[in-house]
Amino acid sequence: MSALSERPAHPAVGVSLPHESAALHVTGAALYTDDLVHRTKDVLHAHPVQVPYAHARVTALKTEPALDVPGVVRVLTAGDVPGVNDAGVKHDEPLFPDEVMFFGHAVCWVLGETFEAARLGAAAVVVEVEPLPSLVSLSDAIAAESFQGATPQIVRGDVEAGMAGAAHVFSGTFEFAGQEHFYLETHCSLAHVDEAGQIFVQSSTQHPSETQEIVAHVLGRASHEVTVQCLRMGGGFGGKEMQPHGLAAIAALGATLTGRPVRLRLTRTQDLTMTGKRHGFHADWRVGFDADGRLRALDATLTSDGGWSLDLSEPVLARALCHTDNAYWLPDVRLTGRVARTHKTSQTAFRGFGGPQGMLVIEDILGRCAPLLGIDPVELRRRNFYTEGQATPYGQPVRHAQRLHQLWDQVLDTGSVAERRREIAEFNAGHPYTKRGLALTPVKFGISFNFTAFNQAGALVHVYKDGSVLINHGGTEMGQGLHTKMVQVAATALGIPVEKVRLAPTRTDKVPNTSATAASSGADLNGGAVKDACDQILARLTQVAATMLGVNAHDVRISGGIAQGIGAAAGVAWDDLVRTAYFQRVQLFAAGYYRTEGLHWDSSVMHGTPFKYFSYGVAAAEVEVDGFTGAYRTRRVDIVHDVGDSLSPLIDIGQIEGGFVQGAGWLTLEDLRWDESDTAARGRLTTQAASTYKLPSFSEMPEVFNVALMTDATEDGVVYGSKAVGEPPLMLALCVREALREAAAAFGPGNVTVELASPATPEAVFWAIEQARAGAADSHTTAGDVTPPQPGTGAHPLRPESEQVGQAVSRV
Ligand code: MTE
Ligand code: MOS
Repeated sequence: MSALSERPAHPAVGVSLPHESAALHVTGAALYTDDLVHRTKDVLHAHPVQVPYAHARVTALKTEPALDVPGVVRVLTAGDVPGVNDAGVKHDEPLFPDEVMFFGHAVCWVLGETFEAARLGAAAVVVEVEPLPSLVSLSDAIAAESFQGATPQIVRGDVEAGMAGAAHVFSGTFEFAGQEHFYLETHCSLAHVDEAGQIFVQSSTQHPSETQEIVAHVLGRASHEVTVQCLRMGGGFGGKEMQPHGLAAIAALGATLTGRPVRLRLTRTQDLTMTGKRHGFHADWRVGFDADGRLRALDATLTSDGGWSLDLSEPVLARALCHTDNAYWLPDVRLTGRVARTHKTSQTAFRGFGGPQGMLVIEDILGRCAPLLGIDPVELRRRNFYTEGQATPYGQPVRHAQRLHQLWDQVLDTGSVAERRREIAEFNAGHPYTKRGLALTPVKFGISFNFTAFNQAGALVHVYKDGSVLINHGGTEMGQGLHTKMVQVAATALGIPVEKVRLAPTRTDKVPNTSATAASSGADLNGGAVKDACDQILARLTQVAATMLGVNAHDVRISGGIAQGIGAAAGVAWDDLVRTAYFQRVQLFAAGYYRTEGLHWDSSVMHGTPFKYFSYGVAAAEVEVDGFTGAYRTRRVDIVHDVGDSLSPLIDIGQIEGGFVQGAGWLTLEDLRWDESDTAARGRLTTQAASTYKLPSFSEMPEVFNVALMTDATEDGVVYGSKAVGEPPLMLALCVREALREAAAAFGPGNVTVELASPATPEAVFWAIEQARAGAADSHTTAGDVTPPQPGTGAHPLRPESEQVGQAVSRV
């Protein structure tokens, strides 16, 4: 095993600890960026001037009326930008635009003595516009061929030959919705300028280094003139990977122009209407199976709804294409990706980063085709799992593929699936108006940034003379427990109790050139760097201890805060060892560095080994559906998930539960809607509050929720044998959607393909039930039938066009 993954005796990792800020979170004492405002003197507040058109050219911007409003100090416009008027890394995101690209786009910002003054000032600004034609729906954008960015393709084998050799070929389309992050803390920045012009921005950002870069390029300054700090976030979920930058730049610009601290915190409505969400997608597919139900070929085009600018749409799309296989071997495959440009907020990273969308496409295909093949979906999925030695469509060998089979069997067993399916069949036979369904789905998720350069991290570890330890690393804390894990890693590496280790907030002047805390890689990357720094210090301290103990340095072990020679009874306490080392003038601090080995990715041909390893998981969900309303509840969920050897089991289980519930929200409840009418409200986000956008809450939690970590799962080559956990569990929720499909199908004669919209809201489930019931009268859609079902079979006239998810065609 590699030195990186090997655990010493009595490690601090692997112990169940509460989140390092848990007590602060629950008592309200934890400080978030906006809490700092009350501790800062002379703060100005920023308010945007949002323009209510989906698409328009600004013909006049009259800011003078705002200055007449009491308490308004200044209006920031494009003319104030000393550097580059752009908020992104693609140079397609003007910070102060002269073209309104989505309903609610901010064209300028007002600074006031109070938030209310700034708000009134913003309302007084006169914006004259010339409305322009707009594309709001994804299907309209596709029809208009409105695309942006690259059109990547993953190809293996000969997809046409694969289809020709297939016993069954089906085709269909599927359009599904995005998701609002709804982090508890909205976007927030607080900027200061010191006497030397040094800019200090406190920001709720997952990517402090990039926030620093964008602030510097907007201000026309060098990176060393800008420091960004992130205390913690009240949730990021990918929404704060790219989108804090422009907002931080506005605050910093205001601070440099006025000499006063500027606070920019979006209200919930502003956050909902101005910032990006998970991408909705459209998929067009053709799939071939052999006579035994084994996948032979897949030809799919995935088009994401990127919104008005690229933001992270290209890498999100790449990850979607890299996860369309999910857990399944696809011999001949062609996956094509496109990003549509629409007049909406710029859609961005969201937990899973496109992976969930790719996996939803294949799971939907399997769910729809299973009845047409006459194969039980549990069996169909399992039969198509990767086996050892096979590679993904982009050429990466699927190491540990047997874990999929093992986890599947474990969930079947611990979830008593066979027995419960018998009970469900009995229940359904006796209940004409209520039906239950149970489904299992697997997850295989690649860990590392596809963009190879991001797979590096730094850390700074200080040991003070009294033996206390302070660690800094490049990762940010958003509730996921990264800091807790890093304290455990440092304590393990140094052989001391966790109480001796403290962690300082993430700052760009402590650790430079950091990557976003994203792609679930925070603990892998920063853990590697923290351990490297600790190992350097430890090597020096071991020398000192060897002399003190009269043994060879190779025979010194530090554990539980005591340095001992192997087998010796006497030892030296950590604090004494550190003090002695200081007097011997031994360096007691170190910078650590980590880069992930063995990665390569050629984005031009979408081929290589972009991932260090795959995370695996399996989940089973049982639901109960009401036949009159489509309303449902989740009766039971069983999960077994692979986190390697957990660094912090309580944290990991929390991530799995939270990720699962967030995924279930995306797939079943959260319904983003934009006004697509030709009225003045065209392009407006109509679900811009918690009253109209349904988030999962306590009442939607599974009634029985069993989460287990895979055992004996050491991952070689990763810090202390662990695996990433942040995103993969979100995709475990795909089983809830498949269980709803099963339950809806149970209202029909069986072996009928049931198409289900996503999100599968009660309304959507109701239409699926209607479709299943119509199938009873329509024998075209029974198993093994070679007659193509009619387009729109079972579709209700009230169903929106986009939910009429195409027909499946079978050919023998
Ligand atoms: N958990 C909480 N509580 N809050 C969050 O914002 N973000 C998720 C995940 N878990 C998130 C979370 C996302 S999108 C990612 S990429 C990872 O955490 C990032 O942290 P990690 O790399 O340390 O796992
Ligand atoms: Mo997570 S979507 O990679 O921030």
